[in-house]
Amino acid sequence: MALGLLDGLRAWELPRGSFERYETLARVFRVAFAYEHRMCGDPDFLDPARLEEAYASSEASMTADDLPRLETMLPTIESLRGAPDKARQCTTHFCVIDREGMAVSNTYTLNTMFGSKLAVGGAGFILNNCLDDFRIAADVPNWYDLVQGDRNQLRPFHRPASSMTPTLVVKDGRVEMIIGGSGGPRIPTAVVQTILGVLGDGVSLGDALRGPRVHHQLFPDETALEVSVPDPIADELARRGHKIARVTQLGVCAAVKRNLENDEIAAILDPRFGDFW
Ligand code: DON
Repeated sequence: MALGLLDGLRAWELPRGSFERYETLARVFRVAFAYEHRMCGDPDFLDPARLEEAYASSEASMTADDLPRLETMLPTIESLRGAPDKARQCTTHFCVIDREGMAVSNTYTLNTMFGSKLAVGGAGFILNNCLDDFRIAADVPNWYDLVQGDRNQLRPFHRPASSMTPTLVVKDGRVEMIIGGSGGPRIPTAVVQTILGVLGDGVSLGDALRGPRVHHQLFPDETALEVSVPDPIADELARRGHKIARVTQLGVCAAVKRNLENDEIAAILDPRFGDFW
C-alpha cells in the first residue's frame, strides 16, 4: 500500500533528503497503518469478501489524489482510547540467495525480549509472546504503541496480524532485492524507505540503509524522525502541524541487492544494529 501510494505520488521525483520527501513518507505511512488497522486479521477467520477487498485495495494502483482522499478517512484515537516505552526486542531477519538466483527472505520473531520466557523442554527453542500483536481492547496500544483494529481482536484459534515484512523485489522474474528487519511496526516503514532509496533514488544499498528515517504508524498520531534527520526538516514538519517525536533509530534491516546485469551481490546489515541495544 505504501509503495503504491508513493508510486502514485511519483515520490522518487521528490529530492532525497528534502522536506517534501520526509513529509510525503510520513503521510503515506500514516495512511498505510490506517489501512492495516482496518483490514488486518487472521485471514482464516475473515469473510472471503473482506479478504478480497483487503487484497484488492493493497494491490490497487494509486494516483496522486488517493493520499489526500484516504487522509480524510482516518480514525481518531478518541473513537477507540497509555503506552509503555519500547523495550528491547527479539526479532531476526535473514536474506539468502543462491547462484541460480533462488532467494529466501525470512523474519523470525520472539516479539519482545525472550518472548514468553518459556523454553520448550528438549526442543531447543523458546516460545514467542506474539499474543501482544493482537488487539486486546479497542483503545489499548501494544508494546509498540500500535493500536490494532477489530479484525485483529484476540480470539481463540486466531493468528495475530504482524508488521513483519520479509520482502523479495522481483524484476522480470529475477530477484533484485531481499530485505526485512526488526522493530515491530518500524519494519515496513524502514523496508519501504530502503527500497525507495535503492530503486527510486538509485543510491547504493549501504547509503539507502544509512539514510535518516521517518516513521508514522497512525497511533500515536506523531511523526517519528531519527535524530539524524536535519533540524530544518523537523522544524518545517512541526510548522505544518506534525507532532514530532525524535528517536535514536527506527528499525533495523538486513538486505541484499543483486545487480541484474552482472549478478554482483551487495549484502548489508543495517549499521543501526550496533546501537540497537
Ligand atoms: O509480528 C510483529 O509485528 C512483531 N511480533 C514483530 C516484533 C519485532 O519486530 C521485534 N523486533 N525487534
